[in-house]
Amino acid sequence: MNNIRSTVLGCGSYLPEKALSNAELATMVDTSDEWIVQRTGIENRHVAAEGEFTSDLAFEASKKALASAGIEASDLDAIIVATSTPDLTFPATAVILQEKLGLKSGFAFDVQAVCSGFVFALSTADAYIRSGMVNRVLVVGAETFSRILDWEDRTTCVLFGDGAGAVVLEGVEGTGSVSDRGVLTSHLRSDGAHKEKLYVDGGPSATQTTGHLRMEGREVFKHAVGMITDVITDAYAATGLSSDDLDWFIPHQANKRIIDASAKKLGIATEKVVTTVNQHGNTSAASIPLAIDAAVRDGRVKKGDLIMLEAMGGGFTWGSVLLRW
Ligand code: UT7
Repeated sequence: MNNIRSTVLGCGSYLPEKALSNAELATMVDTSDEWIVQRTGIENRHVAAEGEFTSDLAFEASKKALASAGIEASDLDAIIVATSTPDLTFPATAVILQEKLGLKSGFAFDVQAVCSGFVFALSTADAYIRSGMVNRVLVVGAETFSRILDWEDRTTCVLFGDGAGAVVLEGVEGTGSVSDRGVLTSHLRSDGAHKEKLYVDGGPSATQTTGHLRMEGREVFKHAVGMITDVITDAYAATGLSSDDLDWFIPHQANKRIIDASAKKLGIATEKVVTTVNQHGNTSAASIPLAIDAAVRDGRVKKGDLIMLEAMGGGFTWGSVLLRW
């Protein structure tokens, strides 16, 4: 057994130019800034321009991630894009991104695990790297949820936004201990019994349409904190680490109340929690790399910091990744 660790070489993110405030939304549906902020912590979200696609958002975030990693696209062995809002039914958005980056070698594919997509993609890349199959992987979370929202449904349209984030991973020989840099452990779960609580009511095989997002918000909320804390507890059990050892908790950014309740249940101090949901709403698979990039750019996350990532979303799917930056 080797001790290869998937270490982060660099990261980047991108939000579309057009911002949509709670006040503007209140002119479109029966809602208010007060309700949205109090129930979710969201103040703003971004919406992709006409003709701007998920692959374009992914491209902008990827260019920044490659620059911060100090490598060229041609240095990559693989690209994995986590998205539930692909440009097209096929080919994969990752392949479209590969072409935009001018990469002629390696392989690219999408991972679809809705809001947990980035955690699933990161752990997939980590498994490929540790197997020795590849060495450098670009992992992207990119979404244009504005395209699948029912803009007349106030219970969902106020919650989501568009965006993208990316990290570059590289396999580096470690010692096998938890002091290594890189991904230390990943824990993924899903349970299709909950598929009707958060889904899109269209698709190529079922309806030959794209469909709209439908959610029983209260039901999702009810399960979220328990599922999130379960996979984080699994990460602690696998490593012997605890909430006290964490430098940063960077959760999926769906709702500030879910983030706060999870941190409280796990005994994670408030000052260790990275929250960006106020700025961009729930960007599904893009939310974790957006939050990572924000905390790296403002100097909070430093080399050697221990970071817990977690997400929960449609399916249900849920998972955690513990890594040392
Ligand atoms: O990434 C994972 C995916 N999703 C999530 O994590 C979302 C999980 N769920 C949630 O975040 C919360 O359940 C919501 C934010 C969606 C809703 O918060 P809530 O505290 O669970 O509210 P609720 O659904 O129980 O609705 C409370 C009231 C209802 O009115 P009545 O029945 O009490 O008269 C809703 O009709 O708020 C009403 N309401 C709104 N009012 C103003 C629902 N949406 C809105 C709105 N503006 N946008």
